Amino acid sequence: MRIDVLSIFPGLFDSFLGESLLAKALEKNILSIGVHDLRAYTDNKHKKVDDAPFGGGAGMVMGVQPIADAIDALKKDSPAKTILLSPRGAPFTQAKARELANEQRLILVCGRYEGVDERVVEHWVDEELSLGDFVLNGGEVAAMAVIEAVFRLLPGAVGCEGSLEHESFERGLLEYPQYTRPENFRGHTVPEELLSGHHANIEKWRYAEAVKKTQKMRPGLLEQFAAQRPRPRFSVALVHHPVANKEGGEMTSSITTLDVHDLARTGKTYGAQRAYIVTPVEDQALLTDRMKKHWREEDVAKRMDSRRAEAIELLKTVPSVEIAVADAKRRSKKVKLLATTASRFPGAVSPGQWRAMAVEGEEWIVMFGTAYGLGKSLVERADAVLTPIEGAGEFNHLPVRGASAIILDRLFGR
Ligand SMILES: C[S@@+](CC[C@H](N)C(=O)[O-])C[C@H]1O[C@@H](n2cnc3c(N)ncnc32)[C@H](O)[C@@H]1O
Repeated sequence: MRIDVLSIFPGLFDSFLGESLLAKALEKNILSIGVHDLRAYTDNKHKKVDDAPFGGGAGMVMGVQPIADAIDALKKDSPAKTILLSPRGAPFTQAKARELANEQRLILVCGRYEGVDERVVEHWVDEELSLGDFVLNGGEVAAMAVIEAVFRLLPGAVGCEGSLEHESFERGLLEYPQYTRPENFRGHTVPEELLSGHHANIEKWRYAEAVKKTQKMRPGLLEQFAAQRPRPRFSVALVHHPVANKEGGEMTSSITTLDVHDLARTGKTYGAQRAYIVTPVEDQALLTDRMKKHWREEDVAKRMDSRRAEAIELLKTVPSVEIAVADAKRRSKKVKLLATTASRFPGAVSPGQWRAMAVEGEEWIVMFGTAYGLGKSLVERADAVLTPIEGAGEFNHLPVRGASAIILDRLFGR
């Protein structure tokens, strides 16, 4: 690979190119880099590269002529992808670094002053890249960042290529935390999982930590990562026992027909396998079954809305969550419980975190509590608890139909 840099301060690159792995890569001819003084391309005798902006305003603008002539001269014999480093550019990412590492030739143009004449962008440059949402004095540091991120991806440039695989951004997550000797430094110890020697558990721990770190530092990145994963198989459960009472104890609530009806429709919309109505009270179970019969057999569907009947087919009344799990096990080898709650629960996971952790082949039962929410014993028994939906203020009493619609959209909506 060949990289040419255009700058009015070429000397800034001397030590950068002369040290560390980059110097070795240049020595080994893995890549070659030329840094060119833009002033050498000016057509005025004062070697001036800038001028006052048309329309007035503060500062100076780099003129089009030296940059255009320099790029034309460099491209005379072979094409090159030409990039202007600019705070207005698209964010420079690991994915972009990978893309650039596949190019034969790059030209990196470093701006200075108030930036460059826009005609450079319009006619001489292929793309503009930014290092981040901040303003540097010049493009040289940004060009160095691009060179460093790109060259280390070239075959043979870094000693241990396997070390690149799990790096931040390579698979859409930030990297997991790393530790080295000593095991105990002034009472600060290393996580036990890493000392176990059990390879599979270490991998599992690292993945979970990478997800956690990404959720904490870059929630948007985690959402993107989660959205690209396969959608986990799931069912929904409207739980009437055990649910919380006013005092935080547990009780059994009664069925609200509208809840049953709406959960089936919302569940169907987002792709649920089943909509379990959990009630140990026989009369209440009969009521749900009667509803189902009403929609299915009494021909209501034909008279009103056949899609409604389709959703109603998802309904299954069960006396307990255990029976719902047993039923789901007839379809899926592994069945797990996801609890939803309006209060903050230690260790609760965001929708993105949950999607990132869900494994293909599992079926999750997403449980919604009636009355004052799922009973404490059920929340504690769940394999994961979802972070609550938060509204504008202290009042947080969403109806179960509303909450389930919001949650299913966050978990499974496109
Ligand atoms: C002082 S800046 C010009 C800022 C410009 N007036 C603006 O507000 O967008 C001078 C040069 O530094 C470089 N530069 C500054 N911040 C950068 C960033 N975040 N990423 C890449 N290059 C940057 C660009 O080459 C730019 O032309």
